[in-house]
Amino acid sequence: MHSKTALAALLAPAAVSGQLNDLAVRAGLKYFGTALREGSINSDASYAAILGNKAEFGQLVPENGQKWESTEPTRGQFTYTQGDITANTAKKNGQGMRCHTQVWYSQLPSWVRDGSWTKDTLRSVMATHMNNVMGHYKGQCYAWDVVNEAVADDGTWRPNVFLSTFSTDYLSLSFNLAKAADPDVKLYYNDYNLEYNGAKTDRAVELVKIVQAAGAPIDGVGFQGHLIVGSTPSRSNLATALRRFTALGVEVAYTELDIRHSSLPASSSALVTQGNDFANVVGSCLDVAGCIGVTVWGFTDKYSWIPETFSGQGDALLYDKNFGKKPAWTSVSSVLAAKATNPPASSSSSSSSSSAGAPTTLTTSTRTTTTPPSTTSSAGGALQTQWGQCGGNGWTGPTQCQSPFTCKKQNDWYSQCL
Ligand code: XIL
Repeated sequence: MHSKTALAALLAPAAVSGQLNDLAVRAGLKYFGTALREGSINSDASYAAILGNKAEFGQLVPENGQKWESTEPTRGQFTYTQGDITANTAKKNGQGMRCHTQVWYSQLPSWVRDGSWTKDTLRSVMATHMNNVMGHYKGQCYAWDVVNEAVADDGTWRPNVFLSTFSTDYLSLSFNLAKAADPDVKLYYNDYNLEYNGAKTDRAVELVKIVQAAGAPIDGVGFQGHLIVGSTPSRSNLATALRRFTALGVEVAYTELDIRHSSLPASSSALVTQGNDFANVVGSCLDVAGCIGVTVWGFTDKYSWIPETFSGQGDALLYDKNFGKKPAWTSVSSVLAAKATNPPASSSSSSSSSSAGAPTTLTTSTRTTTTPPSTTSSAGGALQTQWGQCGGNGWTGPTQCQSPFTCKKQNDWYSQCL
């Protein structure tokens, strides 16, 4: 124990950080998180350093390591090597974890997908899988995605082995089995394209109602947020879609956010549009009391599923391939900063003193709304509050800060009162 260092840390004022998770927590969210790519964490030190910085990412999700094909590739044989990469990284850095995913048609081993099942045999396979995997990660996850992508793009039920065996009864069955496997974790439905508030969103609303009407437990809905630059809905339309779910008594979160350019390379104006789109998504979460956090599906364009899946598209994340912050990073930081208040007494900056190796359990209460800091006027014009934006290309707001803060340039697009 380095007592001098520890004492200095205790005596120092709360760390001033413009980093995403710190700002998100100060803005009233539980976390700003990222997916972790299992194959990259041990081979790329720059990647590991940013990903493991709790001030930037307060929560991690395994990109693939907890999926059925990773955890039970062969019936009854469980392996946690891949999933534990994220769990161990989160533990080491004092970060939280979202867990992903249980009942999903994709990355489902063929022994499940192509098996010939009765209701009893498939129920037993699902229970065994959940008891083992959720049991293994018990106490380490803030939430589990229990059912993933049950709705097809046109709003019909997506065909899969679970639907063909149980009809839509598999939805409440999945949530009931998950509750039995881990009674303390938040249980989520997770899907993409809910953001557009169309037929798919309608069906997901119905899904929540079906599960609730069956008396099964459901705590949250994850908006994956795989969006397209220039076609992302407005902040208020996004908030409207989120509120359709919070009105049913469940919390919501963005769980896999990325906003891809549909053609590459992106022009500088497309990079600015991407920033605005990201700001609208994160801003919509800030606008909805039951929206508890934002997770990006990776943070660097060096490692993203987009080019592998959507040919010719990509650069969908906040950092470029060389780990430089993009305009989108600045926009997200800015929208969080605009809502951030001074750190509460138990701010995230105190967590560095938590015991080594202890998992961070994100509290499970619904977040409270905070009043955004407003600028105050003085004889010399409006003064920006701490954390607020005070300059940058295109900025038309206040350029002076309230005492004792000063306006510090972060980059060409963003200066902040620190
Ligand atoms: C993706 C991963 O990012 C890829 O590495 C993998 O090859 C396929 O799956 N919706 C989800 C995620 O719920 O699990 C998917 O992740 C992206 C779409």
